[in-house]
Amino acid sequence: MPRPIDGLGDVLLDEAAIEREVARLGAQISGDYADKRLHLVGVLKGSALFVADLMRELTVPATLDFISTVPYAEGSASGVARIRKDLDDPIEGRDVLVVEGICASGLTLSYLLRNFETRNPASLRVCALVAKTRERPPDLTLDYVGLAIPDVFVVGYGLDWDERYRHLPYIATLT
Ligand code: IMP
Ligand code: MG
Repeated sequence: MPRPIDGLGDVLLDEAAIEREVARLGAQISGDYADKRLHLVGVLKGSALFVADLMRELTVPATLDFISTVPYAEGSASGVARIRKDLDDPIEGRDVLVVEGICASGLTLSYLLRNFETRNPASLRVCALVAKTRERPPDLTLDYVGLAIPDVFVVGYGLDWDERYRHLPYIATLT
């Protein structure tokens, strides 16, 4: 067992469970994109560890880009995010899979999908390792989800609280 870390509560996904979920998602995605070239877009920074592991599970050729958004103000009704670091490459005509570490309200992904649609990708899907069980915009479909969790704050495996805990190899609640 890892040494206890300040502020951590229950482990919701341990290392083995994460490995299993990532392998399952990788196999499913590889099957669905069997005759395609996949273009992964990781949403920084939470997806960094996940997308690196997911990519290694793919058996289809894949390219990788990243995007970073400024979070919308929590509680604001608009859900308008802003792009901090845009994609390096155009996505027109490409089969794009947006990869997110965690989906909570879904506002960030919903904003990104609307933005990406205007760039005319050949296809556009979403993969989230963790999705909180809560209401999300009706136009948002999570095509691939690792695990549904209750609406609690979690950290680890790329997910942070105030930039802390990203390095943990498991996902746990905060106390
Ligand atoms: P959403 O727009 O509400 O779906 O939230 C998206 C972003 O909020 C994620 O990309 C995370 O950066 C952050 N976030 C939401 N819930 C959590 C959590 O439980 N732990 C860490 N980050 C979270
Ligand atoms: Mg964060």
